[in-house]
Amino acid sequence: MKKIMELIAEELTAAFEKAGYDAKFAKVTLSNRPDLCEFQCNGAMAAAKTYKKAPIMIAQDVLEALGESNVLGDVQAVNPGFINMKVREEFLADYLTKMQQDENLSVEKAKEPKRLMIDYGGPNVAKPLHVGHLRSAIIGESIKRMGRYLGHEVIGDVHLGDWGLQMGLIITELRHRKPDLVYFQEDYTGEYPAEAPFTISELEEIYPTASGKSKEDAAYKEEALQATYELQHGRAGYRALWQHILNVSVSDLKKNYARLNVEFDLWKGESDADAYIPAMVEKMKNDGFAYEDQGALVVDVKEETDTKEVPPCMILKSDGAALYTTTDLATIVERMEDYHPDEILYVVDKRQEMHFIQVFRCARKTGIVKDDTKLSFLGFGTMNGKDGKPFKTREGGVMRLENLISEINGEMYQKIIDNRSVKDTDAQKTAEIVGLSAIKYGDLSNQASKDYIFDVDRFTSFEGNTGPYILYTIVRIKSILGKYTQEGGKLDEKSIRAAVSESEKALMLECVKFNAVVENAFDEKAPHKICSYIYDLANAFNRFYHETKILSEENEEQRHSWICLLMLVRDVLETCISLLGFSAPERM
Ligand code: ARG
Repeated sequence: MKKIMELIAEELTAAFEKAGYDAKFAKVTLSNRPDLCEFQCNGAMAAAKTYKKAPIMIAQDVLEALGESNVLGDVQAVNPGFINMKVREEFLADYLTKMQQDENLSVEKAKEPKRLMIDYGGPNVAKPLHVGHLRSAIIGESIKRMGRYLGHEVIGDVHLGDWGLQMGLIITELRHRKPDLVYFQEDYTGEYPAEAPFTISELEEIYPTASGKSKEDAAYKEEALQATYELQHGRAGYRALWQHILNVSVSDLKKNYARLNVEFDLWKGESDADAYIPAMVEKMKNDGFAYEDQGALVVDVKEETDTKEVPPCMILKSDGAALYTTTDLATIVERMEDYHPDEILYVVDKRQEMHFIQVFRCARKTGIVKDDTKLSFLGFGTMNGKDGKPFKTREGGVMRLENLISEINGEMYQKIIDNRSVKDTDAQKTAEIVGLSAIKYGDLSNQASKDYIFDVDRFTSFEGNTGPYILYTIVRIKSILGKYTQEGGKLDEKSIRAAVSESEKALMLECVKFNAVVENAFDEKAPHKICSYIYDLANAFNRFYHETKILSEENEEQRHSWICLLMLVRDVLETCISLLGFSAPERM
């Protein structure tokens, strides 16, 4: 459906033209004086110069040309030349009725769907998921959902960190503990056991132990580096062990992501890029892009317009080892071959920005990506604790994601129990649903690039700009609808009547913004815009609700119209939260 703003602009465009002025001046915006009007056009002021005429006269000409409009009700020309507008209540009601009948709630599918790959999550195998990985998962998931809702093809890839030193460290530690395992016998030619020689909890203990040792013991570190090298160069026993580490780790990661309502289409990792490295490097050399500098292989990526130094992109270390840049470049090669995406979007900590500047420039320069593939980086800020420092446990350690989730759910459970008069069994389940909204909304309501403070008390509150508040509003609507049907009301025939109060019209005006908000939030990769929209919508609803006796309204048609409006508000809110990656319970 056309956006409300477009429909108003069409009216004005016609009027500007009819009055003899250029249509380019007929720009409409939301009013910044909601006390005076709903929409405004400042075009008469801009046109004044061109036509050497007082803006107020131009505005009056336009009003005259506009005449009676089906869309606009009250329109005024105000000094020095503003055109202040209010839409007709009938027009608004009609728009909402159509919106309710539209299967996509007025949002138009992209005319030219794009294939977008999103690289998000980015967990490192064998290291527990910690809150640092939370943001990537939450933000990436939301962008994926928005893209799909708008009709694009979106492929989410978790891009595991499964190829680095942490693998060599684990192998080394295992070797110290269980040297007799077949994986360490170089002359072994048999089948390797199907069962992993460790559990996930052992694995999670092994890695930090090994990492700690390597920092104190140079020989141990050397061993780990060697093991990493041998793994990457195909030593069979190490590959088998690596496969076990991967399997055990991935099934644990999947469980954790499922709790977050996060799902990936591809479970690829840095290791998958390995096969593409030799040919890629060869080509970079042959084409004259890569050259040797102090033993290392590099590609220059600085540009004249740079304001800060962009160092050359390292392709291989002097010992021939691949780096983080190498795997990222080779992954682009792989993605281009397999998917030829229109865009690859990386949702990664903003502290990695320089890395991606180098990778993108190198990929572009060496022809790994074609001009028609966009590479974009959405760098997010740090999640801090109340002390303004990166979020930690009470003891000061790294907070594990599952602990954070449990803490929030515990908090939510308490609140839900306190709120209820009757004890019931679904409170735990409800706490999980609401807890997830607290975490996700708390994160997504901030502009992604900014650092933010993870404040458990605030995020779990039922009041204010929080996930639980949004859910509470949805549940309130559901409960009214439930009572309506219990009293024999029907929900099938849908039609919405013109607003009869100021708060009802305000609610309707929020509703109709939905299509524009979703499109804009996706274009700008900005889930926080959806959050601020649903906060406004929920507030508008609650104001209407407090001022309106819905179920006790005597006029049946009026009551039914309000019920339809409520259903629409519920659908818009539920669609928005599903774009953010959480859902609402039936009751709270
Ligand atoms: N595993 C990396 C980390 O924990 C993030 C990976 C981001 N994606 C990428 N293609 N580099 O920092």
